Amino acid sequence: MNFTQILIDWYSIYKRDLPWRQHKEPYFIWLSEIIMQQTQIAQGLPYYIKFTAAYPTIFALAAADEETILKLWQGLGYYSRARNLHDTAKHIAYELDGVFPEDYDSLIKLKGVGDYTASAIASICYDAQTAVVDGNVYRVLSRYFGIHIPINSSIGIKYFKELAQSLLPRNNVGNYNQAIMDFGSSQCKPNNPDCLTCPLNNGCMALNKSQVKTLPVKDKKIKIKKKFFNFLVFLSEEGETILEKRTSDGIWKNMYQFPLIESKSKLSTTNFELSKGIKQRLPQTHYSITLFNEKEIVHKLSHQHLYTSFWIINVKSIKNNAISTEIIHKYPVPILISRFIDSFGF
Ligand code: ADE
Repeated sequence: MNFTQILIDWYSIYKRDLPWRQHKEPYFIWLSEIIMQQTQIAQGLPYYIKFTAAYPTIFALAAADEETILKLWQGLGYYSRARNLHDTAKHIAYELDGVFPEDYDSLIKLKGVGDYTASAIASICYDAQTAVVDGNVYRVLSRYFGIHIPINSSIGIKYFKELAQSLLPRNNVGNYNQAIMDFGSSQCKPNNPDCLTCPLNNGCMALNKSQVKTLPVKDKKIKIKKKFFNFLVFLSEEGETILEKRTSDGIWKNMYQFPLIESKSKLSTTNFELSKGIKQRLPQTHYSITLFNEKEIVHKLSHQHLYTSFWIINVKSIKNNAISTEIIHKYPVPILISRFIDSFGF
């Protein structure tokens, strides 16, 4: 039996019972694929359930306001996915009369839809001959065929896409695409895969050459930046604080945060940058300042590590932009801030 058929047979036994697999409705497939990008199924599943309950149709999602969507997305990260999701929902609902594009070339033009998502929707909903290549697929293919080309190089991306494409079955491509992804996440796992019980172990190059641990290969070209974030947590005697909306482009665009001072290194209570940031917000006010977390909280993003300090600034009152701490939970905030809000006990 060949590689493709072995995976299809494996899937018929071990297929995960996931809610979006009960139908081929493009709205649900699109939603599930956007949510599951860069995310483990176990982490994304509750979000899929929340989103489909809140927005059972593309029209409902289009009509929602962005802040509510961001709030529902909170904790899943990569928030541009949520903003693009909303833009695309509006585009499909209002400009395409709610009708999803049906082929790869039109799907890939949608905001937030790349090669992976266009291939997933086209193959699952419309049985198109187009292979998905996600992290699982890179791992399975690089190990089985013994390929050492870095998966994050442009040559690698092209090579693996073509290889994946050449392995597609004639029919039920969506089924096979999901089979190889499920196989990667539960059998050919990143660490300690159970090669003894693997139905592909006979022909697996990596297993044959003891290279399972070294494949896939990734270029380490990303240099991680270290940043120092200081959040100013104002607290007035009336139980108010300040939250600011991030309007500039970036991962947290349109989400809320405590006023932020970015610095070159760790700051002390008497630092000028801190007092300047405080005075900018509350020019005439006396305040006392304490550091909430002695040890910086390190929030790791794909390209940067944020060394974060929360500064508690007690003041008598806040005249402008005050919000009651009682409603702070309603605002969409990055998970870094939401964890602080919980641990501070607002
Ligand atoms: N990861 C993201 N989408 C998936 C799907 N449809 N099947 C398996 N794994 C996935």
